[in-house]
Amino acid sequence: MHKKLRHLTHQILTTQEEERKKISRELHDEVVQTLVGINVELSSLMHGNTSEVEHLKEKIARTQRLVEDSVDSVHRFARDLRPAVLDDLGLIPALHAFCKSLPARKNLKIHLTAFSGVEKLESDRRIVLYRVAQEALTNVARHARATTVKISILKIGDKLRMEIRDNGKAFSVRKILHAKSKRLGLVGMKERVEMVDGSFTIESTPGKGTVVRAEIPFIAGKSIK
Ligand SMILES: Nc1ncnc2c1ncn2[C@@H]1O[C@H](COP(=O)(O)OP(=O)(O)O)[C@@H](O)[C@H]1O
Ligand SMILES: [Mg+2]
Repeated sequence: MHKKLRHLTHQILTTQEEERKKISRELHDEVVQTLVGINVELSSLMHGNTSEVEHLKEKIARTQRLVEDSVDSVHRFARDLRPAVLDDLGLIPALHAFCKSLPARKNLKIHLTAFSGVEKLESDRRIVLYRVAQEALTNVARHARATTVKISILKIGDKLRMEIRDNGKAFSVRKILHAKSKRLGLVGMKERVEMVDGSFTIESTPGKGTVVRAEIPFIAGKSIK
């Protein structure tokens, strides 16, 4: 028991540290770089001898685009950390927003069908579904080389079933789950789902693609609307 707890604590801390590292790296790469760019533009405006109005306008427009980029990045950060729409508008709008902003979306068709009653689900459970979809879709975008992905949320008896199905290249789930140096994406999804008494499965079939499936008991909570 003691050993198991220590192992768990260790895993939580490692995950937290990994997340922080990721956020810090992305903050640096996206936001800081753009801010530095803005500063360079501004100082060239200050010291340059551009008396031509057109030239000045051009420079200002370029600086404005950089500001817009960093506003977008900060928005994305805030949303990834804890999407306000999830609390305010619900899971389905939050998933729509996430899909719309998924990088590498250009070459990926995303379909979302959802049982509207999912918004009545207890809020902790909605968050589990959101985090699983977020990770699964990020994996599809990052690893699958798929052309379509379908997300469905269905009510089946007293359970909710969410599936993320892609048509990309398959992988050996068993190998990944039993690998010594574990990646935390798949493991994290499984842990979250099992925390709310759900079951989590992944099927990956060569020539067909991957299905990530989470099934959790439907327990209603305070409705958001
Ligand atoms: N939908 C998918 N299609 C193809 N490969 C996948 C998919 N999801 C996961 N994988 C494979 O499983 C591995 C582990 O995934 P994950 O635990 O989320 O870690 P990470 O995304 O950080 O690599 C990935 O590196 C990838 O090789
Ligand atoms: Mg992943």
